[in-house]
Amino acid sequence: MDLRPVLFLDSGIGGLPYCRRFMRRNPGERVIYAADRANFPYGTKSRDALGEILAALVRNLDNIFRPKLAVLACNTASVSALALLRERFPDIHWVGTVPAVKPAASASRKRHIGILGTARTIADPYAERLLRRCGPDCRLTGIAAPELVGFVEQGGDRAGIDEQRGQAAPYIARFRKAGADAVILGCTHFVFLRGAFESLAGSENPEEIIRIFDSVEGVVSRAESLLEKHGIRAASGEGPALPEKARQNLLVLTGDEEPGELWGQRAAAAGLFPRRIGEL
Ligand code: DGL
Repeated sequence: MDLRPVLFLDSGIGGLPYCRRFMRRNPGERVIYAADRANFPYGTKSRDALGEILAALVRNLDNIFRPKLAVLACNTASVSALALLRERFPDIHWVGTVPAVKPAASASRKRHIGILGTARTIADPYAERLLRRCGPDCRLTGIAAPELVGFVEQGGDRAGIDEQRGQAAPYIARFRKAGADAVILGCTHFVFLRGAFESLAGSENPEEIIRIFDSVEGVVSRAESLLEKHGIRAASGEGPALPEKARQNLLVLTGDEEPGELWGQRAAAAGLFPRRIGEL
């Protein structure tokens, strides 16, 4: 039995769907979700800058929480800094978030997949390399969508479906025009728009139907299998016998920003208590 928490990390709200699915399936585990608001957005920063930002953040969080496992619930951070974090923090078991290239490549009939991500993720050779291994006959069209990250972060996660569809539509149109029939949501923020993307991806013309992929299930299952494999699960059922404060699942915001109404609602909906990192 290992009562140390599981840490989820993103620049903002993007990793929350990953964290929520994990919490639903693993109610005995304590969870800390860190939103690095002080450094948002990650997608416009360089690999080196992200390495430094993330190493400093993890050092701080590790001192406070001593997590047993950390999920880098951010594609940009994962392609840029996962290897570095693994090396610097060998006592933590790491799970990265990588674009769901494998399932998309096997589903594509036209042998043309699309990936929607941040500028940093799209510029990185990671997805292309993965595709060379699992679908070498497939083409890859990458589109960077920094505005869409901003939309979700500023409240688009709670917007109505029409507004979400309005934001997603130009990207689906571009993928369709390029000829891709399997599109990967390669930024965790976009998982909130999955319903909008799917509602736009159909077509009366079977040639134009697009399938949408994300990495939530793959990442959450990987975290669960590592907990199992290393024998570091917390007690399930009644939960760990710790004081209430030490059992709380937290949403930690970096920087000076007060959680405010938006983050308060997001935290409540996820069953997390909002905290500024300075309060810990
Ligand atoms: N959610 C992050 C990702 O998966 C990045 C968003 C940002 O640019 O900060 O790539």
